[in-house]
Amino acid sequence: MRDVNLEQAARTLREGGLVAFPTETVYGLGARADDAQALDRVFVAKGRPRTHPLIVHLESGAELEAWVREIPPAARRLADVLWPGPLTLVLWRRAGVLDAVTGGRDTVAVRVPRHPLALALLRATGVAIAAPSANKFGHVSPTSAAHVRAEGFDDSVALLDGGECEVRLESTIVDVTSGVPTLLRPGGIDVETIEEVLGAKLADGRGGEARAPGMLAAHYAPRARVVAVRDLDEARARIAESSGKIAFVGSAPVSGATFVSAGEGAARARTLYATLRALDADAHDEVIIELPEERGIGLAVADRIRRAAAKP
Ligand code: TXA
Ligand code: MG
Repeated sequence: MRDVNLEQAARTLREGGLVAFPTETVYGLGARADDAQALDRVFVAKGRPRTHPLIVHLESGAELEAWVREIPPAARRLADVLWPGPLTLVLWRRAGVLDAVTGGRDTVAVRVPRHPLALALLRATGVAIAAPSANKFGHVSPTSAAHVRAEGFDDSVALLDGGECEVRLESTIVDVTSGVPTLLRPGGIDVETIEEVLGAKLADGRGGEARAPGMLAAHYAPRARVVAVRDLDEARARIAESSGKIAFVGSAPVSGATFVSAGEGAARARTLYATLRALDADAHDEVIIELPEERGIGLAVADRIRRAAAKP
């Protein structure tokens, strides 16, 4: 990886290169969204299957028309109120949006990030940036420039260092192609906030693999084995039957494991990925994590813990 400044990053993108850049959620591995060759490099660099579609990052909601063929009222309302921010909308793609972006589907995922450096990069580049998270396929998303460096991308990939991200968990993805807005991935904006803006409940589209390509059950995983538990009793029972170097990420210490305080609410979301990486760096064999209550940001935190735990 090579470090670049904003101007170099924008030039690299315009010329079809790859730039890892900060957003308020996690770092993205960006390529210009209108260049099939540049997009191809993203899949190669990540080792990501080409059927997994990418999120198109826009400088503002005003650019939406160029990417989608229809903006239903619910989509308009969410974009007006929650952009820029950690919300991705899935809409019908406009003709001409590349298959490399959409994985060949008739829909496209778009969002306007709120990180100042991401917005400055979009402005300086002058084209939309397609970007998955800047990690190797299946791994934990990077929430700092140091995490991106640790992924081991080669020197063809440029890095725009913006320090640590704010939310440190990916965006919430909502499908607004039908009359019923549907949650595909919980994330940085909680469901309650989205429902309040809509004045209606979100349908639950999770688990529908056909609707959310690339949302594999096993994902966002560290090297260590991850085990999700409901409470301290379950953690103790697990530790009793485990071997090796064990960590427990939860509400209180339990004997037999390195303790890491999980924290609460947004703070818990902010520490999850960095904790998993730190425990990997410290050569833990198993990480036992207490699930949070599944409301607010806790829904997204629990989702990521379960996916990390689903790694075979
Ligand atoms: O916060 C985020 O969303 C970060 C930052 C960089 O913006 N990006 C991110 O990208 O998490 P990625 O590639 O790791 O996850 C994008 C997910 C895919 O797994 C896929 O499920 C969903 O977005 N997606 C993209 N296009 C879609 C589409 N047309 N229909 C349904 N889901 C789509
Ligand atoms: Mg990802």
